[in-house]
Amino acid sequence: MMCVCVCVPNMALLRVCAGLFLLQLHVHSSPIPRSSGCGYQSCPATQPQMLNVHLVPHTHDDVGWLKTVDQYYYGGRNDIQHAGVQYILDSVVGELQKDPARRFIYVETAFFYRWWKQQNQKTRRIVTQLVEEGRLEFINGGWCMSDEATTHYSAVIDQMTLGLRFLNDTFGECGRPRVAWHIDPFGHAREHASLFAQMGFDGFFFGRLDYQDKAQRMKAKEMEMVWRASESLKPPTADLFTGVLPNGYNPPTGFCWDQSCSDAPVQDDPDLEDYNVDTLVANFLKIARTQAQSYKTNHIIMTMGSDFQYENANLWYKNMDKLIRYVNAQQAKGSQVNVLYSTPSCYLQELHLANLTWPLKTDDFFPYADDAHNFWSGYFTSRPALKRYERLSNSLLQTCNQLEVLGGPKSRNGPHGEGDSDTMKRAMAVAQHHDAVSGTERQHVANDYAKRLAIGWAHCQVLVSNSLAVLSGSDVPRTFCENLNITVCPLSESSEKFSMNVYNPLARPITWSVHLPVNGTLYNVIDPNGQTVDSQVIPVSKATQDLRRDRGYSMYELVFMVQAPPMGFSTYSITLLKADSTQLEPTPKAPVSMQNEYLMVTFDPNTGLLSGLTNLETKQSIQLKQNFYWYNASDGNVESTQPSGAYIFRPNSSTPITISEKPDVSCVQTSVVQEVRQEFSPWVSQVVRLYKGSRELELEWTVGPIPVADGLGKEVITRLDSNIGSSGLFYTDSNGREVLQRRKDYRPTWNLKQSEPVAGNYYPINSRAFIKDEKSQMTVVTERSQGVSSIFDGSLEIMLHRRLLRDDVRGVGEPLSEPGEFADGLMVRGRLLLTLTPPETAADTHRPLAQGLVLQPMLSFQEGALPHNTKLEFSGLQAALPPAVHLLTVSQWDSESVLLRLEHQYQSAESQTYSHPVTVNLQKLFSTLEIVGVSEMSLGANQWKEDMNRLQWTPNTGGTMKGGRLGDPWEITLQPMEIRTFLLRVRHM
Ligand SMILES: *[C@@H]1O[C@H](CO)[C@@H](O)[C@H](O)[C@H]1NC(C)=O
Ligand SMILES: *[C@@H]1O[C@H](CO)[C@@H](O)[C@H](O)[C@H]1NC(C)=O
Ligand SMILES: [Zn+2]
Repeated sequence: MMCVCVCVPNMALLRVCAGLFLLQLHVHSSPIPRSSGCGYQSCPATQPQMLNVHLVPHTHDDVGWLKTVDQYYYGGRNDIQHAGVQYILDSVVGELQKDPARRFIYVETAFFYRWWKQQNQKTRRIVTQLVEEGRLEFINGGWCMSDEATTHYSAVIDQMTLGLRFLNDTFGECGRPRVAWHIDPFGHAREHASLFAQMGFDGFFFGRLDYQDKAQRMKAKEMEMVWRASESLKPPTADLFTGVLPNGYNPPTGFCWDQSCSDAPVQDDPDLEDYNVDTLVANFLKIARTQAQSYKTNHIIMTMGSDFQYENANLWYKNMDKLIRYVNAQQAKGSQVNVLYSTPSCYLQELHLANLTWPLKTDDFFPYADDAHNFWSGYFTSRPALKRYERLSNSLLQTCNQLEVLGGPKSRNGPHGEGDSDTMKRAMAVAQHHDAVSGTERQHVANDYAKRLAIGWAHCQVLVSNSLAVLSGSDVPRTFCENLNITVCPLSESSEKFSMNVYNPLARPITWSVHLPVNGTLYNVIDPNGQTVDSQVIPVSKATQDLRRDRGYSMYELVFMVQAPPMGFSTYSITLLKADSTQLEPTPKAPVSMQNEYLMVTFDPNTGLLSGLTNLETKQSIQLKQNFYWYNASDGNVESTQPSGAYIFRPNSSTPITISEKPDVSCVQTSVVQEVRQEFSPWVSQVVRLYKGSRELELEWTVGPIPVADGLGKEVITRLDSNIGSSGLFYTDSNGREVLQRRKDYRPTWNLKQSEPVAGNYYPINSRAFIKDEKSQMTVVTERSQGVSSIFDGSLEIMLHRRLLRDDVRGVGEPLSEPGEFADGLMVRGRLLLTLTPPETAADTHRPLAQGLVLQPMLSFQEGALPHNTKLEFSGLQAALPPAVHLLTVSQWDSESVLLRLEHQYQSAESQTYSHPVTVNLQKLFSTLEIVGVSEMSLGANQWKEDMNRLQWTPNTGGTMKGGRLGDPWEITLQPMEIRTFLLRVRHM
């Protein structure tokens, strides 16, 4: 019997005979040997002169996909997919105890949290010991493994914070993951890498990248690199060591020993039939040597696991124990291969010890293609309504968090029952999963995500009501109108007198347009200072009536502009003056142009389509034609059987079909708003809208139900064709933060062979895209994640909605054909905000515009007149923050402390006015909170800043620099794109 050496650095060598443990089927009677700690200290010894193969036992547990997160946890609905996470954890914990050499990593805290709650003290003690000895190691550690294309950085930071906090609260320092692990997401965002670096991760591993990119990297031994993930942050702040795993996240062919696999076990009794040790060992050595050819060091990693594996962990461990034993036995005969149980962090430590220089990566990994006609660029847009609901939920969560802090303990438990922000925090964290907001889940699972968010809303609304009652002094019950986007709000439709509270979660004052469904024709709107506000009543459009169907009956919309102070509210009162039966109708034709103080928009008098845009301040003008089209989804063809589906975008022609060259047009012109209403077909319409005092043009589109009776799947886009000389370049944001340049038919790090001229040029946007030339920049700001491209110079197209009839064979097993509330196809409404500016000042407009859509004001309503001592205006800040500073997080941490994140929202070179360091004094921040202590933390809030000590890596170009901080602890300086995270101890004043 062979003995395996398990070496623990910083401690006497422990010689443990793995074989002996194998034969002991029950738990050790003697105490388990203790290593000196978790983390890098607990890493097994390796053989410096040999090729070391790090076997990483792991399971990939989707936080919802074919089944809901709870079905996956319990193992319900195994008829859909056999998967039960509770059994995985039960089984692994049992198997780990049998041998201290064994390792396991766990990734998704959403599941671990569920499991931990259900364990008794004894199991918890055992698990804690396994964690403290580094035998069970948490990797990544967020609530889920977030999608990278369709998530917004604010929600990603929150979901990581939630998971990492649970791990720290439960296991302390040994629960802190060292490595980020995104083995399944379908392409990788630079901003994610930047966030991971700022969260203190030492390295990052992933599984999926473009097949051409991978082939080239394997050849060049560039599977591992240093990703410099920010153009603004000083290296190494956003430098992240990044490794591409050799085989996605699966084991090598022939070595899958899960109960769900059918590879041969290690059959090692020569007396029995099918003895296979020699072939298995030879095969394994061959795979290891081949793999080593694509990597730089004498260490390689193998992911021993896959989706929902280890439910019966004995199968895996029993066979891996033998594999290790028999492969290493060959060393006596001169083999130079050493196999060991390991973890991603132990593998990473060896790479670090190798002290090499690594290739530098500065762009990102989008779009992802797994073959010539398989571009995963459809999910950038899939399930557009869920994508919007997720984004709106983030806005409400930030408001809920802020009001929990401002309202104090009464906001949790006040006159309107018990409210909390935790339900929404968890629902939002689940929604960040790479099969949630991405839109790649089954329909019933998408419904479950939305339901969780809706329950989160209900809990937050109670909290918000309580908090606003405290802050305003008025207990009058509040209602929320969640359906204003379809012009439904029972209170405003019927009430003769009501008030509306506008809460603004941004750290600067805002002006916002409000449309309320009403049935009167004249109203008096009074602001908090008693001044009458200009308000206008306009007819509800036919498109809106078609959209809301029988969910509301208002004939008109009351439109007015409101203002609200930073991190605070204003309350408006609205009184019906006239309810006559005058029939308001829009004018049945398009104007040649409409304009306000800042913008002029022209329309083609023959077609009614948008034809030009002028910035009246800068005197810039562009030609601009806009229309709607659909790509005919491929069902597969002779080149490839690949159809378009939830993940994959594959049009069957590069020329999209025009929905109408000449929409029906009508218009509405008032002192508050001007609208041109365009109806392209019964299922596509748009309102081109210009508000008084606004520097952006609003394009409100409504698409659906997409007809599919003709048997054709449809992917609907809007395209803006301008005379801007964009020279094949366009720009897209990464997770809502920094912007990357894109070039048609081009990738910065390899020689692209373009095989899908449209789908292969699509990129995700979360908040904006733009094109520009020397003179002009046209920016589109959006309110949800979408796919975008520029196929022609001067053109920008945005995919809005998709309805497909085929499954794209990536596992989801359903065509993406959302039924919507009435089962005849989902209708979706959204907005694009369009600006035209000189390129030099574009960011000064699009940064605040995008932030304003992400954190939009929350409206709440109270029936009747308010008591006269009601406080109508409130700000939680002493003053607005400087324009460069975004208040990213204000959230109650525990009874005495508040988590605060301040962000510099400009890149280093994008604004002459704002791309400079900016200083904020923490003690002069809040108006009702006194700050009595402050400690800076890592971005994920699971480590004190002073304890952060990441492994440093050397890229082959560009240096690393060290930065220091000095000075007054209350004076906080932010560099461009920097986020700083603080735990504040506070007292209510
Ligand atoms: C790492 O390599 C550099 C040269 O590339 C050398 O100067 C340095 O001493 C090495 N560090 C260690 C710990 O071996
Ligand atoms: C981590 O948790 C421990 C308790 O387990 C606590 O003392 C410590 O302050 C936490 N660290 C951070 C950064 O929150
Ligand atoms: Zn997955």
